[in-house]
Amino acid sequence: MTLEAKVNYLSEYQPCDFEVLSVNLLFELSASSTLVTNRMLIKRLASRSVSESENKLKLNGEGLVLKSVRLNGQLLSEAGFQVTQEHLFLSPEGDEFELEVVTEINPQANTALEGLYLSSGNFCTQCEAEGFRRITYFFDRPDVLSVYQTKIIADKQAYPVLLSNGNLIESGELADGRHFAIWHDPFKKPCYLFALIAGDLVSLEDQYFTADNRTIKLCIYTDPHHLPHCRHAMDSLIHAMRWDEQRFGLTYDLDTYMIVAVDDFNMGAMENKGLNIFNSKYVLADPQTATDVDYEGVEAVIAHEYFHNWTGNRVTCRDWFQLTLKEGLTVFRDQEFTADRLSPAVKRIEDVRRLRSHQFAEDAGPMSHPIQPQSYIEMNNFYTLTVYEKGAEVVRLYQTLLGKDGFRKGMDLYFARHDGQAVTVEDFRQAMADANQVDLDQMQAWYVQAGTPHLKVKAEYNAVNASIKIGFQQYLKADNSFSPFLIPFKIGFLNDQGETLYPEVAADYSSAVKLEGQDYVLKISQENQVFEFNGVSDKPQLSLLRGFSAPIIMEYQYSEKQLAFLACHDTDSFNRWESAQRLALMELMANIARFQAQQAYQLGAAYADLFETLVSQALNSDQADLALLAYSLTLPDLNYLIEQYDAVDIEALVSVHQQMKKSLAQKYETLLFEVYQKCLADQAYRYDKQQIAQRLMKNTALSYLSSLATDQIITRIKQQYDQQSNMTDIQAALQCLSNLTSPQTDSALAHFYDKYQDEPLVLDKWFSIQAASHREGVFETVQTLTAHPKFSYSNPNRVRSVIGVFCRQNILAFHRKDGAAYAWLAEQVLKLDEINPQVAARMLVPLMQWRRFDAKRQDLMRSELISLMANVQSKDVYELLEKSL
Ligand code: TRP
Ligand code: ZN
Repeated sequence: MTLEAKVNYLSEYQPCDFEVLSVNLLFELSASSTLVTNRMLIKRLASRSVSESENKLKLNGEGLVLKSVRLNGQLLSEAGFQVTQEHLFLSPEGDEFELEVVTEINPQANTALEGLYLSSGNFCTQCEAEGFRRITYFFDRPDVLSVYQTKIIADKQAYPVLLSNGNLIESGELADGRHFAIWHDPFKKPCYLFALIAGDLVSLEDQYFTADNRTIKLCIYTDPHHLPHCRHAMDSLIHAMRWDEQRFGLTYDLDTYMIVAVDDFNMGAMENKGLNIFNSKYVLADPQTATDVDYEGVEAVIAHEYFHNWTGNRVTCRDWFQLTLKEGLTVFRDQEFTADRLSPAVKRIEDVRRLRSHQFAEDAGPMSHPIQPQSYIEMNNFYTLTVYEKGAEVVRLYQTLLGKDGFRKGMDLYFARHDGQAVTVEDFRQAMADANQVDLDQMQAWYVQAGTPHLKVKAEYNAVNASIKIGFQQYLKADNSFSPFLIPFKIGFLNDQGETLYPEVAADYSSAVKLEGQDYVLKISQENQVFEFNGVSDKPQLSLLRGFSAPIIMEYQYSEKQLAFLACHDTDSFNRWESAQRLALMELMANIARFQAQQAYQLGAAYADLFETLVSQALNSDQADLALLAYSLTLPDLNYLIEQYDAVDIEALVSVHQQMKKSLAQKYETLLFEVYQKCLADQAYRYDKQQIAQRLMKNTALSYLSSLATDQIITRIKQQYDQQSNMTDIQAALQCLSNLTSPQTDSALAHFYDKYQDEPLVLDKWFSIQAASHREGVFETVQTLTAHPKFSYSNPNRVRSVIGVFCRQNILAFHRKDGAAYAWLAEQVLKLDEINPQVAARMLVPLMQWRRFDAKRQDLMRSELISLMANVQSKDVYELLEKSL
């Protein structure tokens, strides 16, 4: 460990003793030695000016070479300050003073991609969460808000474009071929929102006319070669701006909005004020290089970062324990945006799939933490699925409880009260409560308790009284003394013809139930609770937890017959999908039990019939929602299947999963082939709902058929590949081929490489398709991929596409019995730890799940963690190891 593994606690939060009135930065850029002059006007907060001993000013700083310190213009001697590895201490007199600190940094050597670094020869910054301290000494905490002015000086030829936050106020030429630009950001911001770019870039420009009649200049910067691929990002931005005005009444505040695409980036993108910096994966899109999923990703991330301008920047977080205040809320907003742009049910399915396959695992493993964590060593480790995705689910709970209008009222009050402030999740909740004059204190339980709540549901029908009682019991697996959650539970009642029933809520329960369209929302607030409905003359079909109205694990003993009925007849489209998934899961689990008892695999009639019905619907109806059907026909993924077991039998799960897919393909080959043919279309690529759905259905059918591996099918897959019509279809075909042992596989992979070797984002696909392959010898292939000349440990996208994909998606190969892949991953983590700790920590995650596997695998995985513990350098990896062991 190079740095101190200090634990930060929410309970120890103290406001800062000082206010920074203004920050004046000067960057003299050079690749290996950049000088940063930071002149701050600092004011001691009156309420906190106390005794001499507390006179001290403590600034954060890491990896900086301190050149000079001046107080009110006076150069300080070394006796005038104190420098440690992580801080600069001073004891200034007076209540207001000017402090100037000059530091030197080396952007070229910065492979951690935090602070100021170089990506493809361009300077860029990443300051969230605590990267600003790698640029200069500062109060690196989100509750210190300040006005920034930034002057950039650089060589004009190498770096013709110089950007920072806010407005350009001056620019010009200097001697020696250098030039400068001065930027001023009028909005107060925390330092994590600071950004700087200097490089050889060009921009796509457009304009946006706001609802209040201002014209905003929009610029997307990229390297010249990619300029034609920025149109989709620009359209996405314009859609997002319009949507936020219409849905939330929120308008953009500066005169320009800039986005810059860079190739080396630790995450998706960053919402720096007026100057978003993006992983190029979430900017560039072209039918020939990006898939439908990529297009959707660009639209969602562009919107997400734009939405942060209000939820994150104008109202920011008091401290990093409040991260979900901005991230949960902003993810919720981008989810709602995509739902409106595409299809609400389909978007909901995609989000629920991600939550249950990945966030549930995090919530049940060693990294389990509440959406408001109570402590951390390295903040970067808490940019998690829990803070983001579960956080968004919790925000959604408010909207479900209060209704869309009530939620909007809460948002309006939140901005009216807190614009310009750094606040907490309690402030958000209070605004929601006050605007609607309701008590939401019980929502606190969602913020402070880790783990996914379970909810047992029992229904009792009484034919004599024509009434039905529905009972609930909530519990947390890891915690017997939990405090009950407030759970809005959406439910619908149907008759056997699939018509909606509207039973009457029994009087005692009416305050906890509201009817909304065809759904009843039950407010569950107790550990055990019963609701009663009257006037139900026949036993109704129950459609439970509609739209996944809360992020819980619902336990209800559905019969196969009920599920088959709901999968076809539920009026709630999300629950039609959900019922098909539940039935598939029952089928998978029954066969896993057979496998373990050494009995033969059997395809059950209930699921087979449903599958046939769904394929036929896709084939016969022009009105059918093909995306919904395609997702309904897709088996629950292996990660979600793993979630169903405390002790996972890898071989059983994987072989049953494959067998089920193959047996369905065998039985319904003709139908699947017809669906495939029906969805073939000779039309120019468009990113729209109908085309996306059609391609999804076609490629779902192709994927089933590919498991048959007949010559005829392979020829068909090859044809689709050869047509090269758009990347969605090319990638789908290549994925199918990559799982087969055929000469066609190798020739297609070679062709793909030749064609795209100079397009990093497409080449990532070449790497990841091979890393995910089910072919024999894939582990050896992956080892050769990390030795490939185009592989690089310093590019996070490339690392994720090989190491991340293999260890997370290639379950059987990663968990090979001899533990060789575990040892390999540990080696990769160790290598990455020295280059990029943030990425190293992400790659470690699959090993952290060791407790779920058999004794032999547990030993193998754990011993890798132990040996890593002895060798790692970074806080990032150290913290995860400590939690795992
Ligand atoms: N705030 C960013 C987002 O949600 C996340 C982010 C981007 C980030 N880069 C980062 C977080 C680096 C930690 C470290 O859009
Ligand atoms: Zn975000």
